[in-house]
Amino acid sequence: MKRLFFALWPPLDALAKLQQLIQHLDRSITPLAISNLHVTLVFLGTVNPKQERELRRRANTIKFHGAELTFDRLDFWQKPSILCLTSTDGLTAVSELSEQLTRISKGLDIPIDNRPFTPHITLCRKIKRPLDTEFEPITWRATGFCLAESVSNSGRRQYRVLEEWPSLS
Ligand code: 2AM
Repeated sequence: MKRLFFALWPPLDALAKLQQLIQHLDRSITPLAISNLHVTLVFLGTVNPKQERELRRRANTIKFHGAELTFDRLDFWQKPSILCLTSTDGLTAVSELSEQLTRISKGLDIPIDNRPFTPHITLCRKIKRPLDTEFEPITWRATGFCLAESVSNSGRRQYRVLEEWPSLS
């Protein structure tokens, strides 16, 4: 059994800008490792090997033409206690992608959260108050989506990409 999620993984240019932004954040907080930064499209939770095989097969049928996101807001979300970046652009294409992935996952009896989807990049967890820093909006051209695994490595959470599906255009 694996703990899986569908996600967008940052292209190198966006990653470099994310790294810069993180370096300018308050020193008292511990940001996520740069290799863990992503946008979750659908959190699947524990998935058995048969479901995983079928998810990968069904993901081949997804139609995603790519999207351009502009992460221009640094937000504090009180309930999950996270600091995250949100985008005001490209939401329709990414929301449609998330909906398609939710549909194929529910079809495999994988319980999916019904919370509204808001694309975001979590930068820090266990945050108690908002933080601010000046930064240039980060443009992220999503040219595909991926299936990722969440693993615990000596108590540290690590995310790794298992398979990627390039966008159709
Ligand atoms: P995030 O997108 O807000 O960072 C892998 O665990 C990813 O799936 C994390 O990035 C996490 O949050 C997201 N996720 C969404 N719902 C989750 C849940 N119920 N439990 C754990 N992670 C969840």
